[in-house]
Amino acid sequence: MNELLSVFKRCGIEPAEYMGGALTVCSPIDGAQLAQLHETPASQMNEVIARSKSAFLQWRNVPAPVRGELVRLWGEELRKAKQDIGYIVSIEVGKILEEGLGEVQEAVDICEFASGQSRQLCGKTIVSERPGHRIMEQYHPLGPVAIITAFNFPSAVFAWNAALALVCGDPVIFKPSEKAPLSGLATFKALARAIARFGDKAPEGLAQIVIGRAPLGEALVDSPAIALISATGSTRMGRAVGPKVASRFGKRILELGGNNAMVVTPAADIDMAQRAILFGAVGTAGQRCTTLRRLIVHRSVKEALLQKLLTAYSALRIGNPLTPGTLVGPLIDEEAYNAMQKSIVVAKEQGGKLLIGGDRVLAKEFPNGFYVQPAIIEMPEQTAIVRHETFAPLLYVLNYDDFDQAIEVHNDVPQGLSSCIFSNDMREVELFISAAGSDCGMANVNIGPSGAEIGGAFGGEKETGGDRESGSDAWKQYMRRTTNTINFSREMPLAQGITFG
Ligand code: UN1
Repeated sequence: MNELLSVFKRCGIEPAEYMGGALTVCSPIDGAQLAQLHETPASQMNEVIARSKSAFLQWRNVPAPVRGELVRLWGEELRKAKQDIGYIVSIEVGKILEEGLGEVQEAVDICEFASGQSRQLCGKTIVSERPGHRIMEQYHPLGPVAIITAFNFPSAVFAWNAALALVCGDPVIFKPSEKAPLSGLATFKALARAIARFGDKAPEGLAQIVIGRAPLGEALVDSPAIALISATGSTRMGRAVGPKVASRFGKRILELGGNNAMVVTPAADIDMAQRAILFGAVGTAGQRCTTLRRLIVHRSVKEALLQKLLTAYSALRIGNPLTPGTLVGPLIDEEAYNAMQKSIVVAKEQGGKLLIGGDRVLAKEFPNGFYVQPAIIEMPEQTAIVRHETFAPLLYVLNYDDFDQAIEVHNDVPQGLSSCIFSNDMREVELFISAAGSDCGMANVNIGPSGAEIGGAFGGEKETGGDRESGSDAWKQYMRRTTNTINFSREMPLAQGITFG
């Protein structure tokens, strides 16, 4: 505990912030109370939003590369605090320390990406059909951006959004998950230190954090002053947020559920597939939106692969995520544990055969921590439960005989986030990533579905939400585009050859 208090101190989280508040934060490791944070009263949301609005009027006029300098400083602060923030992520969310540190590295990486991007917020120049005319596009700052994140990536997903929003000229309001506010707060404090170093070109209210539950998110979602809502979480949450933002013609980025699969063909390197499955299905205790949840394996290689997997699963070190060597930490809470148990029961009712795992472990040592043995269930077909995302280390195995059938099964789920194929047959590989292949936002070859780098656009189709964040050209969503037609001639020709008067 003393260790945690010194980490808080180094992260700039003050006793007045973490003591005496109404939001109790407990560690999933052992249920120990970590903090009592003060919630932002819902009645203050109007003020928060008004500050963001006026910050926008100044920030949009700061040249983008200068804004990029602020984000570069944030990256520096995150690098310095990596160990401490990674520790908070681990203790608050239950990720193994290695993954907690990886998450902070992801935040550093996006800062560096965004700071470079700040010199490349470019539009196209387009030829005109009229003589002496030119068409060009410009990208301008959009307005206040609200970032609502989930518990499982409490640091990186905030950074993906905030780093881009800030270089694009948008102030940010961050509402971390009430299940992981400390990691969010520590990441935010690093930004606050960067802002202090950056000086007075950063207007007051440029970056704000609000701590609390759903009503705070609702205030942001409903406010016409919030130009863009970026929300990460369940499809259920997205169904509530999406229509509300649409009804006021606001912009949104939704990153919702995934039901990510791997197709393993007879031409696969089975050892590599097994290693990728282990990290994909079991890493972060199955609590990534990109977690591997479905294994679609050719009948001829199924037994060999399952043997390897069962051996690897029986040797998994489950336990305290802060202990070196642990691979699987606890689930976030009892609710997550119950949801997993329920899915196992339903899967069995639907013809599933539990091959390994599913039981609660370490209950004596950690009566208030929910540790489970990751489970593998072989299914006779893709039943309703397989089409449903259970946020836990629960992997369904399905057989296939013919490759087209594998793709059909692969795509026959409501979600469309991430996917992968293991094969060294270029025909299979190219088909899987072609228009007739995986319908997901991410389709990988010979690597698992999780652990994406920040350089690519991250996101998915169908019930995953359809939006993209992080790398590539995701920055465009944080800006408004104008098309400018410029006449440098002395004539007034009309487009489409129209003569008028
Ligand atoms: C999430 O689970 O919400 O690709 C994000 C990955 C990570 C991000 C996951 N880079 O698994």
